[in-house]
Amino acid sequence: MSVAKPLPHDAALQHVTGTARYVDDIPTPVNTLHLAFGLSDIACGVIQSMDLDEVRAAPGVVAVLVADDLPFANDVSPSAHDEPLLATNRVHYIGQPLFLVVAQSHLAARKAARLGQIEITAETPVLTIDDALRVDSRFEDAPLVWTKGKPDQALGTAPHRLQGQIDMGGQEHFYLEGQAALALPQEGGDMLVHSSTQHPTEIQHKVADAIGKTMHAVRVEVRRMGGGFGGKESQGNALAVACAIAAHATGAPCKMRYDRDDDMMITGKRHDFRISYDVGFDDQGRILAIDFTQLARCGWAMDLSLPVADRAMLHGDNAYLLADIRITSHRLKTHTQSATAFRGFGGPQGVLGIERVMDHVAHALDLDPVVVRRINFYAPAASVDGGSAPRPLASPRSLSSKMMDNSTPYHMPVTDFVLHEMTEALLITSDYEQRRKAVKDWNATNPILKKGIAYSPVKFGISFTLSHLNQAGALVHVYQDGSIHLNHGGTEMGQGLFQKIAQVAAHRFGVDVSLVKITATDTGKVPNTSATAASSGSDLNGMAVADACDKIKQRIATCLAEVHNASPQEVQFCDGQVLVEGTSIRFAEAAMFAYQNRVSLSATGFYKTPDLSWDRTKGTGRPFFYFAQGAAVSEVVVDTLTGENRILRADILHDAGTSLNPALDIGQIEGGYVQGAGWLTTEELVWDDKGRLRTHAPATYKIPACSDRPDIFNVALWDTPNPAQTIYRSKAVGEPPFMLGISAHLALSMACGACGPRYPNLQAPATAQEVLQAIGRAHG
Ligand code: MTE
Ligand code: MOS
Repeated sequence: MSVAKPLPHDAALQHVTGTARYVDDIPTPVNTLHLAFGLSDIACGVIQSMDLDEVRAAPGVVAVLVADDLPFANDVSPSAHDEPLLATNRVHYIGQPLFLVVAQSHLAARKAARLGQIEITAETPVLTIDDALRVDSRFEDAPLVWTKGKPDQALGTAPHRLQGQIDMGGQEHFYLEGQAALALPQEGGDMLVHSSTQHPTEIQHKVADAIGKTMHAVRVEVRRMGGGFGGKESQGNALAVACAIAAHATGAPCKMRYDRDDDMMITGKRHDFRISYDVGFDDQGRILAIDFTQLARCGWAMDLSLPVADRAMLHGDNAYLLADIRITSHRLKTHTQSATAFRGFGGPQGVLGIERVMDHVAHALDLDPVVVRRINFYAPAASVDGGSAPRPLASPRSLSSKMMDNSTPYHMPVTDFVLHEMTEALLITSDYEQRRKAVKDWNATNPILKKGIAYSPVKFGISFTLSHLNQAGALVHVYQDGSIHLNHGGTEMGQGLFQKIAQVAAHRFGVDVSLVKITATDTGKVPNTSATAASSGSDLNGMAVADACDKIKQRIATCLAEVHNASPQEVQFCDGQVLVEGTSIRFAEAAMFAYQNRVSLSATGFYKTPDLSWDRTKGTGRPFFYFAQGAAVSEVVVDTLTGENRILRADILHDAGTSLNPALDIGQIEGGYVQGAGWLTTEELVWDDKGRLRTHAPATYKIPACSDRPDIFNVALWDTPNPAQTIYRSKAVGEPPFMLGISAHLALSMACGACGPRYPNLQAPATAQEVLQAIGRAHG
């Protein structure tokens, strides 16, 4: 059967032979025009004048548009309406689009875009977290504070207490395919848009507003992205809207793609955070109380910053039961690119905060950090009944008389916690004890090269935290020859969603997956979709597709049962056959038979995730359907003279439930880990004191290369069914493994700590420079 088979990505062959079609590969009509933005050179100020005569006179230029030329709407924000496509009277960051050039070629547009004479009265920009705190520049009037238990009281009585802080940098998405869009005017002023987006419905909505139409006049198609990683949830809006406006104005097809430097200058990145902590603990390393302050640098516009910062709070516990806790979250507004979604969506920042606390506490007590982590874990699933109401239970923490309710800081009971067993298994397969001893022995005898080894877990909440987004639709046709046309609201960005869903459809009909045609995401086929995000693509769309398939199966079964005088329930679909009353016919024959009997072989499907509700301002309720979990052990080596470092080995055990496709899931885990480790090691974003991003090309921004992956890389799946009722009991896998890269940072912390008695206080990213500084701090 098709589900759970490790089949290759449906487009693997096209990917590696260069025949997979991305937006920029779509053949365009000869009269297609090309677009480029003129960008602000100033981070903050008032626009006095824009002299665009030279731009207009440049070779190949057809039109130049400024904010006042936009006929209907000037807004590309996902919700807050605070993000104009083209700047109005003020500029907010270096790289902000000011005017739009429409030209006969891509190069002509780009060259002309440099020729604007812009006069801006510059003001002092707010660039850093410190700047923003100083002038109280923030989204939302006050910080969001969630409290559980009595953190102040528990801090006051804890036997040990320490404070610390970690700054963690942002991250450039570095999708290999940059942002791109193509708008093709249709009859009657309608618009067809091809966009490299994770969110076709949002593109449809923004384009409709921009050209003064209702949504039914706009159709958006997305066959695939060459990577999105969250960077194409909202950041594709500007290009699609620009193309549609220009196409609307000129009547010609319009295309836009950012070149890499522009992409990095214009678009938002992962939020950098500063997380400080005040933690109380006992002799064994049990956390008794914690007070977190999370400072998020959001950039100039709201974008998705509030839910990102919420998710950082929601993951401030990671895998640990923290009974007395306060989390205070500040969403700071700065004159930099508007930070946006990035794999984990704030989760990684929250998780790094608590993992840093575990590391610091273990250092203070001179304990193996694994011991400290395990003693603080949530109670195992087995000790928690059925899952609904919180109840007292015998927790492994057995905190004397205190009844533990095993719930998160936002009061959601944790009923499916499997990290005790997973950790036990991983520590054995990775030979952790032995290797930790070997690392310590090595460090005792080697003055220059120091090693580190570290374990870290992840528990990641699955669902959109904006509950109504947890819905999906599908459209399935069976043709009279038995071939199947599959469509759903999810988008393909390399993660293998389409292949997984095709396997679900094939499994449903009991046919080979080759009978299922995967088709481009299309707002004309499935409406009102959510972004493919929050790792929920296969959970949501898999269920919607199963629903559509089941409707068609039911109709075929009813039709066949009638002829055979059987009940529809007796009709079975398997091995390419349809069985009824002892006779078996090929699926194709069944389809033809149903067609000839005038049975509809087309159906829509729908799914909504059950049981979600929570209050984000209070921080209480059930934002997640379930938790995906995983654990990693990383070993690193550091050259203490240069700070250079490498990951030597990584062992991962990850929980994908009953995997829909183990090959794709392992790919997601490997990619997620490496991308997570990249975030915390080599990937450094540097802005200068004017607010100009200095790292805006691969020459200055270093993502992991193939040679940076660990030489020994053991990835295994924790193959147990998801207790929550998901599609074939699988679990979402897109984002959670990203956070396993944190183990590499913790291993680096150990290596730095081997250079002296003090806590190295390693910040992120742990570039060679930062590693050297941490070594200095360890020396004291
Ligand atoms: N994997 C690849 N190859 N490319 C991507 O862009 N995006 C990640 C993850 N894995 C991404 C990826 C992010 S941010 C998310 S939310 C999920 O995939 C989205 O897809 P899913 O919901 O189908 O897992
Ligand atoms: Mo992923 S950051 O939810 O697109």
